[in-house]
Amino acid sequence: MSERTKYLLDESQMPKSWYNIQADLPKALPPVLHPGTMQPVGPDDLAPLFPMELILQEVSTERDIEIPQPVQDIYKLWRPAPMYRAHRLEKALGTPAKIFYKYEGVSPAGSHKPNTAVPQAFYNAQEGVKKLTTETGAGQWGTSISFAGNIFGLEVLVFQVRVSYDQKPYRRAVMETYGARCVASPSQETVYGRQVLAERPDHPGSLGIAISEAVELAAQRDDTKYALGSVLNHVLLHQTVTGIETIQQLEMADVQADVVVGCTGGGSNFAGIAFPFIGQGLRGGKMPRIVAVEPAACPSLTRGKYAYDFGDTAHLTPLTKMHTLGSTFTPPGFHAGGLRYHGMAPLVSHVKELGLIEATSYTQGECFAAGVLFARAEGIVPAPEANHAVKGAIEEALRCKREGRSETIVFNLCGHGHFDMVAYQKYFAGELTDEQYDEKELAMALSGLPSVPSNL
Ligand SMILES: Cc1ncc(COP(=O)(O)O)c(C=O)c1O
Repeated sequence: MSERTKYLLDESQMPKSWYNIQADLPKALPPVLHPGTMQPVGPDDLAPLFPMELILQEVSTERDIEIPQPVQDIYKLWRPAPMYRAHRLEKALGTPAKIFYKYEGVSPAGSHKPNTAVPQAFYNAQEGVKKLTTETGAGQWGTSISFAGNIFGLEVLVFQVRVSYDQKPYRRAVMETYGARCVASPSQETVYGRQVLAERPDHPGSLGIAISEAVELAAQRDDTKYALGSVLNHVLLHQTVTGIETIQQLEMADVQADVVVGCTGGGSNFAGIAFPFIGQGLRGGKMPRIVAVEPAACPSLTRGKYAYDFGDTAHLTPLTKMHTLGSTFTPPGFHAGGLRYHGMAPLVSHVKELGLIEATSYTQGECFAAGVLFARAEGIVPAPEANHAVKGAIEEALRCKREGRSETIVFNLCGHGHFDMVAYQKYFAGELTDEQYDEKELAMALSGLPSVPSNL
């Protein structure tokens, strides 16, 4: 009998709770600081921006946090997500490794982002919020929160990073189909956007700037809150449905992961697949190697400084300790728009500092080559962000080939690339350059890091 390709769970096997890694960490996460007082922020400081339930999840140390039934009901539109054995990729590489991928591109938005968009919209609606503002890079997050906002009756305004807004017009059309409004950032709609445009009218935008615009508007109105698609603890928490399902699916396949790979922008899809495995390891089970893959043009985990910094460019957010390239750093306009963020999730940064994960970086050309190889072997065209995970998994499989080891590699194929075909066209036309970030700009952005008391 030939070996199985798809590992599918029944709806009844969908996780009923999210996994909170803060329950198992050997050392607690450094506190979030108020930039004015340099004191840890409390729930009331965050209340203008987020509903209380999400603020409580942000600081919770409870291991299992129940997924509300209305959220589970929406999750069932695409969850449990399939896990595949990449037989044909293994053959193409000639590797003795077993390669599995968890496919999050089956969601309505085409990526992992609805895993957190749905609970965020649910908790906001429950607390009487009427409107959400947010940023989006590639458009995956904007699409997801537009989808989720519509389900729970919320108005949604999305600031899309200018370079992605121009590269991916169909993403905006999808957001509008769900009833949201999407504007290019920097925009004329906020004080900060107007200030940036006055200095540089052709500014390509960045996630840091788009966050500032969305936060500025949310902070002004009681009925409006802000939603973030990555970085924060509660976002990473919601994504753990991915890893929890993957662990069950690997059991079905009767294997244990030796290596877990994910791409990192703000860290949410990576944490989603990795944290449940790390948790098992911290509780005495097998600890696989965990590999984060980031773009060489925006390498926060591999080249950034572990320091307190702002989450946005206008410095409206609290200070979090994370690997950062500096909040004023504008990465080059490469095509994995979702990975163009100056910082890394504090929880991902923390587990990196604790030595629980490894990090590596590749250029966009290398990642597109890997994505094309994957598409030709497995049929799915990955999102440019996901190509980084594909590249990381392929490198691990080739290492296994060199070493003659039959390890089990699992990676998060966090989204499809159907709205990213212009990037693929450019790749085939030889027009995709591997842009380097500007070393001088990086040094300047890092020199502007806020100073915090030395004991933190
Ligand atoms: C498909 C896809 N993958 C990855 C990312 C990066 O975000 P994160 O690191 O939070 O998963 C994005 C962000 O927009 C995305 O759209």
